Amino acid sequence: MQAAFFAGNQKFDTGPCVPVTPVGGQVQIRVAYCGLCGTDLHLFHGAMAHRLTLPHVMGHEMSGAIEAAGTGVHGWKPGDRVTVRPLDPCGSCPACRMEHSHICHNLKFIGIDRPGALQGLWTVPAHTLHRLPDSLGMREAAMVEPIAVACHDVRLSEAAAGEFAAVIGGGPIGILIALVAQARGARVLLAEVNEFRVKLARDLGIDTVSPREVDFPALVNERTGGAGADVVFEVSGSQAGAEMMTKLPRTRGRIVVVAIYGEAPKVDLFRFFWRELKLAGARVYEPIDFEHAIELAAAGTLPLDRLITNVLPLNRLEEGMRQMERGGDCMKILVNVQE
Ligand SMILES: NC(=O)c1ccc[n+]([C@@H]2O[C@H](COP(=O)([O-])OP(=O)(O)OC[C@H]3O[C@@H](n4cnc5c(N)ncnc54)[C@H](O)[C@@H]3O)[C@@H](O)[C@H]2O)c1
Ligand SMILES: [Zn+2]
Ligand SMILES: [Zn+2]
Repeated sequence: MQAAFFAGNQKFDTGPCVPVTPVGGQVQIRVAYCGLCGTDLHLFHGAMAHRLTLPHVMGHEMSGAIEAAGTGVHGWKPGDRVTVRPLDPCGSCPACRMEHSHICHNLKFIGIDRPGALQGLWTVPAHTLHRLPDSLGMREAAMVEPIAVACHDVRLSEAAAGEFAAVIGGGPIGILIALVAQARGARVLLAEVNEFRVKLARDLGIDTVSPREVDFPALVNERTGGAGADVVFEVSGSQAGAEMMTKLPRTRGRIVVVAIYGEAPKVDLFRFFWRELKLAGARVYEPIDFEHAIELAAAGTLPLDRLITNVLPLNRLEEGMRQMERGGDCMKILVNVQE
């Protein structure tokens, strides 16, 4: 069994996996598939280097089956099909005490602060486990983590059936937000600049335009009878997106910032005053979002097979990073960890 070890400097070495025997409260998982995302690409490019112990194993969007359980683990046995909510909170900080442990002040993100899932056998705390129904394939199940991000974002947005949602950025997260919002009965308009992604989003039934080709705020106004969007999701992480987001909401409309910015963007605060806007941040997910994501994935109504554009073996991880880097023609890249 193999693992992909990140050596820094945009290099991976594939080598024998070093299985960690699960101790009290831990389980060991035979990982099936692991998705790659922008966070992994940032690590690959040298971001958050102070949080990594090299050689580092990345990966936090996975599916697999339990191989072994340590002492004190109840309700889980070898063979159980699972995914992992990759958060390890401290349990005692002010956020944890307020039941916001997903944004714990001392949060350890498994896959960054701890070894991740790009290894054949992976040992994690049992409290991170979510059970997968038999009807959900292992490939599709590796999409549960990003779907859970979208479920959290849409839940915090309070988007209701019949409301109009504008989504800026049609990467995996923006598209999943659009699909989850549509599943909730919202009307969605998506802005994306990458041609391949515009076409894919349209093929998936999402009304999508490029803000480089059309005046997006004008189109939102036109679609809403001049009112503006009930809710706006900023999922592009771009300065242009941060500028556009305040132009879209209706009076007392809501903006949810999902994206992570390399540099603090400029935001037009005047619009908050002018239209009495509300701004909310949304970070990762809570257990309820994972359960909702599993339910949605298992229902088979999300076009997950279309979002998975590539499946690579573990020893071609670097190629996957390069493809994401070019950004041109991929959506979600999965790694077949057992191959
Ligand atoms: N809040 C969280 O916990 C959380 C979790 C996962 C990801 N994220 C963040 O969410 C963002 C989206 O994640 P992703 O994996 O989909 O990333 P991604 O980079 O694949 O997607 C961003 C998309 O925005 C598009 N874009 C860029 N500029 C644009 C513009 N001006 N207008 C419209 N579209 C534009 C890009 O072409 C790209 O398709 C990232 O910033 C990521 O770091 C946050
Ligand atoms: Zn991710
Ligand atoms: Zn805490």
